[in-house]
Parts: sequence; structure tokens; C-alpha cells
Amino acid sequence: MNRKKIAVLFGGRSSEHEVSRVSAYSVINNLSSDKYEIYPIGITKEGRWFLYEGPVDAIPNGRWEQSEQKRPAFLSPDRSVGGIVVCGPDQQEILPVDCVFPVLHGKNGEDGTMQGLLELSGLPFVGCKALSSAICMDKAVTHTLLSGVGIQQAQYLWFYYPRYLEHPDKVQLKISARLGYPVFVKPAGSGSSVGISRVNSEGELDAAIRLAATEGEKILVEEAVCGQEVECAVLGNDQPEAAPMIGEIGASAVFYDYDDKYKSGKSKLYIPARLSEEVTQEIRAIAVRAYRTLGCRGFTRVDFFVRDHKDILLNELNTIPGFTPISMYPKLWEASGLPYSKLLDRLIDLALEQA
Ligand SMILES: Nc1ncnc2c1ncn2[C@@H]1O[C@H](COP(=O)(O)OP(=O)(O)O)[C@@H](O)[C@H]1O
Ligand SMILES: [Mg+2]
Repeated sequence: MNRKKIAVLFGGRSSEHEVSRVSAYSVINNLSSDKYEIYPIGITKEGRWFLYEGPVDAIPNGRWEQSEQKRPAFLSPDRSVGGIVVCGPDQQEILPVDCVFPVLHGKNGEDGTMQGLLELSGLPFVGCKALSSAICMDKAVTHTLLSGVGIQQAQYLWFYYPRYLEHPDKVQLKISARLGYPVFVKPAGSGSSVGISRVNSEGELDAAIRLAATEGEKILVEEAVCGQEVECAVLGNDQPEAAPMIGEIGASAVFYDYDDKYKSGKSKLYIPARLSEEVTQEIRAIAVRAYRTLGCRGFTRVDFFVRDHKDILLNELNTIPGFTPISMYPKLWEASGLPYSKLLDRLIDLALEQA
């Protein structure tokens, strides 16, 4: 049997560069070598692309960047290429590829830009296409579209930072009147909790808005929800399915911040979530509805808050969820009888099916 050639993209320009390396490392290690030839493509924080052919364990710690075993490589928007263009000392060579697996998070990885290039290239790729990736990356757009179909979310408002700088008092007044305190202030395009603050009173608002603006000029403010945080793994193209079990995060910090997600290791995961069967089924159904509404393909993790063990509020969709072996998305499928490497097979099949 011919092994399929899979290019795994990792790193990238986002604040989640390091997380992506760890996710990609476990994807590469768990793709069956009987079925696939794997070509890791590393993207540096500066946005340079390389085909990396050295030891895989230099990927998670970033040492691959110092390796000699790498060559500049790129994806061409020209559909006739059918692979990755690799630059040698004298000439370019084309590495034919059957499927691309972007294991990238955040900006320029998960936000539709990479997916746009992949669509132009004509290569099959894992996950959502450009439009749904871009929609899900922007929490204000996601909220607006999902409220249009009656999916409950926290009360919210959003604005552009330059507008805030013109009339800070007007924006502050609106926040107090419409949301009250505490609120969460976030960059609309954030990921991994970067630039997010919980704000307890108007006095803390300005600093939180300025911090969020360092990540992007569109700012989202939401009422702070007091309740459980749960996550649902959805998989599929035209017939998406939610994993039977949903997971719950018991954050160790005031909220589930960057350190808690990736560094302290103190937050607890509960699988299944501590919720009734009825609420669990409702969350699964809403997750699939949101997935279909936003046109997701392949996979997406849909995150929720649950107030008083019963009121379900959708928080966000992550179109390339964390994919380390301890990440919620693969764990939820594993708990439902689909082990990590079988899940990877399924994602590649879904990518090839829609090509
Ligand atoms: N409206 C909210 N109410 C309560 N907690 C929130 C709210 N928004 C965010 N959080 C907390 O902040 C974390 C990160 O926010 P989230 O919107 O999920 O952004 P990211 O894309 O960075 O994961 C959440 O996991 C949750 O712990
Ligand atoms: Mg989140």
C-alpha cells in the first residue's frame, strides 16, 4: 500500500507558537508510519518556513530552528504544483503531498489566513476552511452570528480600540449600563487567554482594554459568568458528531489563563463533566448546531459555560484545538473509544473526503 504523504505544519507567528510545537510533536509521533510519510514543516515566529528533517524531539523545545537538517520550503498558491516547494542550494524541488495537517493555533494559523492559502494551493487539508476559521477566530463575529440563531451566550458588546480612545467615557458608560461588573475584557481574536482580563470595577477597565488592544484593535467585553466551564469535541464534515462525553475544566487560577492551560498543570479535567445526562445531551446538540451554523469541517472544540448546572452559554469555538496527549479534544474521543492515532486517521480521511 502506498503511504500517504502528510505535511504537518507547526510553530507560526502567533502567541501560541510553543503550544503548537507540542501539539505537532504528538501528532507526528502518533501518525501511523505504516500509513503515512510525514513531512514536518516548521514556521518560525518571524514567519519563515522550513522543511525540517532532523530528530522529532527537537520540535517541542524549538531546537529544530538551530538544526542543519532543514531547508527553506513553502506552499505555492499555484494549483498545478501539488505539493510543497523545497529550496535547495541550486534549485527548487517539489515534494508531492496528499494532505496538509496544519497543527497551528491562533493568528496566521487558525484564523483563515493559512486556510486561504491551502484552498488556493488545491491541497486537501485537515480542519475548517478559510471562512469558518476566520469566523471562529473572531469572538465578536461568532457571538453575533450565533445569537442570530438563538444560541445563548454571555451578554456582550464590542468596539474598536481607536473608537474607545476617542470616547472612553461613552464606552465605559455602555459597559456599566449593559453588562455591569465584573466583566471579562478580551481581544476579539485572542487565543490561549492572551490579553484577557477579569475586571471587577470601572477603575480597572481602562488598563484591561489597553492590554487587550496590544493583541488587536477589536475588543470584546462580556459579563463574567459564574459557573462551570465545559468543552465538547465535534468531528465530521456534513454529518458532524459530538463526542459522547463532554469535559469540564476545574481551573486552578481565577480563570483558565495561559499558565493554567500550559504551565502550572494544576487545573483539573473532569471527564465526563459533572453535569446531568440531560444537560450533557443539550450541550452536545448545541455544539453540533453551532458547528453546522458556522460551516465547520473536520474538527472543532466547542466551549461553554454552565450556570447553576443548567443554563448553557456558548463561549467559543476552537477550530484547531490543542492536540497534545493531555489536551481535552483528543482525550474526549479517547474516553469514547477512539484512540489518539485513530482520531488522526479519521481527520485525514475527512480532509481527503472533502477535497
Ligand atoms: N464571560 C466570561 N465569564 C467567565 N469566565 C470567562 C469569560 N470569558 C472568558 N473567561 C475565562 O477566560 C478563559 C479564556 O477565555 P476565552 O474566551 O476562552 O479565550 P481563549 O480564546 O483565549 O481561550 C476562559 O477559559 C474562562 O476561564
Ligand atoms: Mg478558550
